[in-house]
Amino acid sequence: MTQQQTITIRRPDDWHVHLRDGVMMQGVLGFTARQFARAIVMPNLSPPVADVAAAQSYRERILAALPEGRSFQPLMTCYLTDDSDPAEIARGFAAGIFTAAKLYPANATTNSAQGVTAVRNIMPVLERMQQTGMPLLVHGEVTDHEVDIFDREAVFIERILDKLVRDLPDLKIVFEHITTSEAVQFVQSAGPKIAATITPQHLQINRNAILAGGLRPHFYCLPVAKREEHRIALRKAAISGSPKFFLGTDSAPHERGAKESSCGCAGIFNAPHALESYAAVFDEENALDRLEAFASEFGPRFYGLPLNEGTVTLQRAEVQVPESLTIAGGEIVPYHAGQVIGWRLVE
Ligand code: DOR
Ligand code: ZN
Repeated sequence: MTQQQTITIRRPDDWHVHLRDGVMMQGVLGFTARQFARAIVMPNLSPPVADVAAAQSYRERILAALPEGRSFQPLMTCYLTDDSDPAEIARGFAAGIFTAAKLYPANATTNSAQGVTAVRNIMPVLERMQQTGMPLLVHGEVTDHEVDIFDREAVFIERILDKLVRDLPDLKIVFEHITTSEAVQFVQSAGPKIAATITPQHLQINRNAILAGGLRPHFYCLPVAKREEHRIALRKAAISGSPKFFLGTDSAPHERGAKESSCGCAGIFNAPHALESYAAVFDEENALDRLEAFASEFGPRFYGLPLNEGTVTLQRAEVQVPESLTIAGGEIVPYHAGQVIGWRLVE
C-alpha cells in the first residue's frame, strides 16, 4: 500500500496551554496561533489569574500580541484557590470571560502555591459550576510527600477524583494531561461528564527519556512521564475514537537556564511542532483517519462549543527541529530539539 502523503483536517484547538505573560507570551504565542484556532489558556501566572478582571486583561494582552492577520481565540480559565468566590466565578462564566476553572492542588506544580489545599474548601464553587455547566479542569496529582512521584496521579484518582465524581455527578471534569493506564481506565469507565486531555510527550516518551543515559531536563514535565506500559495505554486511548480523549499540549516554556539547573523547572515547550507530533503518533499507529476527531471535534463537543470552520493540511516531510530558539531575548529548548519529525504543517 502506498503511504498517505498529506492529511487535511478541520482546524484544531489546543485544550491546555501555558502562554505565560509579557515578552515570553509575545514570543511563544505565534507558535500556538499558527496551528490552533482556540486554546484553553492556563491561569498559573504570578500572581494567578483568579478573578474576572485579571482574566479580562490577560485576554486583552494575548489578543494585542497576536501576529497581524492571525485569528486566534484565547479561552480563559480561572485559577481556583481556597478563597475562590462562587459568585465571581459564575459571573465570569456567564459573561463569557471564563471558559473553565482550574484546580491545582496547592504546590503540585509551577506557580501552584496558591492552589487548593483541600477540595472541601471549594465545594460551594464546584456546586455552582455543576449547576451552570462550567467545566472543571484538574491537575490530577496528590502533593503528599510520602507518595512516590510516579504514583501521584493514580493516588489522586483513589483519594480525590473518584469521590469528587460521585459527590458531583453532573460536574463536567477534564482530567488534564493524563499519564497513566489508571487514568485512562478511570475516564473510560466514568460517565459522559468526564474527559481527559493527552499531551504529545506522554504519547511519545516514557520515563527513560528523562533518566536513562544521563539526566535530560528538557523531557521533565509534571505529571512526569511514567513507564512504557502507561505510554502504550495513552496511545490506545488517543487513537481509540472515544470522544472522552482529546488534544491538549500542555506546552510550558521555561528558559534553558531554568531547566538546566540544580532544581530544574517542570515543563516541555512543545508548541512549535505540536500538531506534527500528534500526526506522527497517529501515523505510527495507522490511525491518521482518527486524528481529526481527536484534534478538532471531541474537545469542542465536550466543552459545548462550535467546531471550527476552515482546515489545516499536514504533509509527510522531514522537518528538522532546531537545538534551541531565541525567544524573549532568552534561549528555549523546544521539544524534539535536534530531531527530525516526519510531518509538516503546510502554511
Ligand atoms: O510540566 C508542567 N509545567 N506541568 C504543569 O502542571 C505546569 C507547567 C508550567 O506551568 O510550567
Ligand atoms: Zn499545564
